[in-house]
Amino acid sequence: MKKILVGLLVALSLGRELRAQVSIIPRPAEMSLSQSKGSFTLSTGTPIVYKQQGLKKSAGFLKTYLQDFYNLNLQENPKQTSKGVYLNLDKKSGTADNSYSLTVKKEGVFINAGTETGIFYGVQSLIQTLDPAKKSLDIPFLTIKDKPRFDYRGMHLDVSRHFFPVSFVKKYIDYLALHKMNYFHWHLTDDQGWRIEIKKYPKLTEVGSVRKGTIIGHYPGTGNDNTPHGGFYTQEQIKEVVKYAADRYITVVPEIEMPGHASAALTAYPYLGCTGGPYKVQETWGVFDDVFCAGNDKVFTFLQDVIDEVAPLFPSKYIHIGGDECPKTSWKKCPKCQQRIKDHKLKDEHELQSYFIQRMEKYVNAKGKTIVGWDEILEGGLAPNAVVMSWRGEEGGIEAAKQNHYVMMTPGGYMYFDHSQSAREDSLTFGGFTTVQKVYSYEPLPAALPVASHKYILGAQANVWTEYITNPAKVEYQIFPRMSALSEVLWSLKESRDWSDFEKRLKVQFSRYDLWKVNYSRAFFDPLSTVKKEK
Ligand code: ACM
Ligand code: ZN
Repeated sequence: MKKILVGLLVALSLGRELRAQVSIIPRPAEMSLSQSKGSFTLSTGTPIVYKQQGLKKSAGFLKTYLQDFYNLNLQENPKQTSKGVYLNLDKKSGTADNSYSLTVKKEGVFINAGTETGIFYGVQSLIQTLDPAKKSLDIPFLTIKDKPRFDYRGMHLDVSRHFFPVSFVKKYIDYLALHKMNYFHWHLTDDQGWRIEIKKYPKLTEVGSVRKGTIIGHYPGTGNDNTPHGGFYTQEQIKEVVKYAADRYITVVPEIEMPGHASAALTAYPYLGCTGGPYKVQETWGVFDDVFCAGNDKVFTFLQDVIDEVAPLFPSKYIHIGGDECPKTSWKKCPKCQQRIKDHKLKDEHELQSYFIQRMEKYVNAKGKTIVGWDEILEGGLAPNAVVMSWRGEEGGIEAAKQNHYVMMTPGGYMYFDHSQSAREDSLTFGGFTTVQKVYSYEPLPAALPVASHKYILGAQANVWTEYITNPAKVEYQIFPRMSALSEVLWSLKESRDWSDFEKRLKVQFSRYDLWKVNYSRAFFDPLSTVKKEK
């Protein structure tokens, strides 16, 4: 009896000690610490061993990470191998669901999976078995079995309101990879700047990528800085980013906004609007009445030409066509738009928007791709194969799923990372108030949706609109630590979601942010940050 008790106490204290050392976000489905106390130590020269060429990407990621943050050089596939990191791709040892197992024992580290993607996720967990605060290279003996809960684990970045260079976009993609996220939604066009080179329409970037100034302060602002702001990505740069993401098993979903949020395109080619202009690349925020004309066939020719150039750049099966916040003011006054309504016996301008989206959907579908649109695309009738991104709460997503359409959840109250995360926020933000706890509490499967329709909820995404985010450090501040919370919402088992456990691991994650030298919000440490300000 006494022996058992002592054994139990040892096991408990050992467990506690090891738990303190191993802190993985998102939390793995199963993790057990070995009965035999011990650890495997990574050191310079430790081999990374793998057979299939495809695993070079995972091996390379691990090697670069250890070089950059631990000043350690592992050897890739050396002639003589002994104890090391073994990446084993084996269709039998895992299924297509990107599950993996990670075992650390005397003989080394063994990551097994049925897919390359699973191996990559195993590498991410391996990275996090290292204690970032101690910069220790000891990994306690353990076994992890893990797989993602949702298929769509996304982060969005608006590069129109403020432009971000390729170097930062790549960093952003790395942050996704380190959190086992797998979709990067790249918001490339909007009223304040067109950011993707289209060879057939050079003015989109010559004219549409630069605004003459930007409002100062919170909308409506206190003036204009009269400083040009611009930037765009060449098609070569787009390819480079897409490859960078693919090497990290991340799909880039491009967004080309239509029919609203089109001022930059209209300024470049005024014939695309209802009145013919003149238009301007917007210098303030909000929603603008000038949109693509729905009655002019030349507009569809233009957008189809744009899709012709966009589609081959992005292997993604999804192309996001926007669809949000399209005022009907100009369509109501436009003879061409009104004629279209008559010709197609449409009820009103909402049905005209639906006509617009459905016409574009046919074109995108013919290229073997699926459209994604913001939840306004439900108004006037959903295009037959459209996927809906629910942002004005969850209602749009619930309705779309009931209509058997796939959905990504991105409700404003939880998933808008441009909102403040501290009640004591003193930098300029869009507003709102979304703490890391609130993000952590989000459940993508709505209680109001019948269980039979849950399969239509692909996952969720956080959006980073950049009206008030002018530089990379501010992007980091807005996403960290909320993105760490989101990764757990999307990856981990619902039953294992536990704020107090996450809170402990988040403290370790802060050391990891320090290791990465990223900027992050410390509101979490401020007891007053969750007390809502008096109005
Ligand atoms: C949106 O926030 N307008 C999708
Ligand atoms: Zn029109």
